[in-house]
Amino acid sequence: MPNTTRCRICGGTVTEFADFGRQPLSDAFRRPDDTTEEFFYRLAVGFCGTCTMTQLMAEVPREKMFHEDYPYVSRGSAVMRAHFRGVAQRFLDTELTGADPFVVELGSNDGTMLKVVAEAGVRHLGVEPSGAVADMAAADGVNVRKDFFEEATARDIREGNGPANVIYAANTLCHIPYMDSILAGVDALLAPDGVFVFEDPYLGDIVARNSFDQIYDEHFYFFTARSVAEMAARNGLSLVDVERIPVHGGEVRYTLARPGARPVGDAVTALLAEEEATGLADLTTLAAFATRVGKIRDDLVTLLTDLKAKGERVVGYGATAKSATVTNYCGIGPDLVEFITDTTPAKQHRLAPGSGIPVRPAADFADPYPGYALLFAWNHAEEIQAKETAFADAGGRWITYVPDVRVV
Ligand code: SAH
Ligand code: TYD
Ligand code: ZN
Repeated sequence: MPNTTRCRICGGTVTEFADFGRQPLSDAFRRPDDTTEEFFYRLAVGFCGTCTMTQLMAEVPREKMFHEDYPYVSRGSAVMRAHFRGVAQRFLDTELTGADPFVVELGSNDGTMLKVVAEAGVRHLGVEPSGAVADMAAADGVNVRKDFFEEATARDIREGNGPANVIYAANTLCHIPYMDSILAGVDALLAPDGVFVFEDPYLGDIVARNSFDQIYDEHFYFFTARSVAEMAARNGLSLVDVERIPVHGGEVRYTLARPGARPVGDAVTALLAEEEATGLADLTTLAAFATRVGKIRDDLVTLLTDLKAKGERVVGYGATAKSATVTNYCGIGPDLVEFITDTTPAKQHRLAPGSGIPVRPAADFADPYPGYALLFAWNHAEEIQAKETAFADAGGRWITYVPDVRVV
């Protein structure tokens, strides 16, 4: 009998289809002298046969993940900085043109998006529980409430500021298991003709690209147009638009509105039809994905073991949260990957969670270049390969593992 649990959206039965075993917190980079016991949980993902939402089988308490030392910053990629500038500008040009408009962002992080809104002089509020990154936003002139967004927070914001024309969340809504509270909060805060826009990794892309490393503690939900439409309908909202976006290996931007407030766009109908055609709401499709992932693990371990036997150096590139799933699922430690290079100050000189692989600043990558770089930040491949031409010129080769294990 497969493992089952209750769906966090509809109460239906969630059936497990992939198990990644014992995993640490994906963003808990440890000080080398930290002797406290590391937290582990079992990472497994399942599919709800009733509302079709794919979700983790168990929840990690939110305070363990999002706290004062949460290290991820949006500003770590030039492509993402440009992306969020574009998002802000589009809101400023469309939804935020009325009298004294107001925008709220969930998971505003270091303020990369809202800084553009603040500079335009438009009323805004970021809601961000992680202290250090919230402080970075505040230092840039962004209004931030250091808090978890949930129903009570939303009611309080509504009372103090009035309704929001736009509620926006990037790579945040999928992090939040307590969706009933979130959507009740959206209902309390959103203006009658306002929009709730969120963008997150798309299950269709994860399955198509075998990007199993999108599955980790912080990513609780894996949305599709179908599951989001069902989730919206159960909570008094309506899915009115979808847009596929290329960042982070393939995401969808969903727009929710109050029923009847906005017409439902053709893109919704088209994506629902595509999902039906590709069997994205069939457990067999997801089980086949899990089988392909098992082969990637075997191939990657074989490759790294062979390179080590030949005396080659392999360095990881990008201490992503995603890499925690890869290293801990595959059993990759400092014996196979010497260190991981990363530009984020809060991750440097720490040990990657679970694996204990050291994280080092960018300069160490070239000192001297290794023969191979394992591209953990594969979602930023273009940006990274464009700036690391000297590595390639020195004969260095990239190893990727999605959609399959390759040396390029
Ligand atoms: N939006 C940014 C950051 C994504 S990381 C980007 O796309 O780059 C996810 C962020 O969500 C973290 O900063 C985390 O602290 C925040 N978060 C987690 N739970 C939250 C909640 N309930 N309300 C608001 N933010 C939350
Ligand atoms: P990212 O893939 O954006 O997210 P996640 O942690 O959710 O998987 O993380 C990219 C990491 O790679 C981040 O720690 C910054 C780092 N990075 C570099 O070191 N160099 C670069 O050129 C880029 C673009 C990112
Ligand atoms: Zn369900």
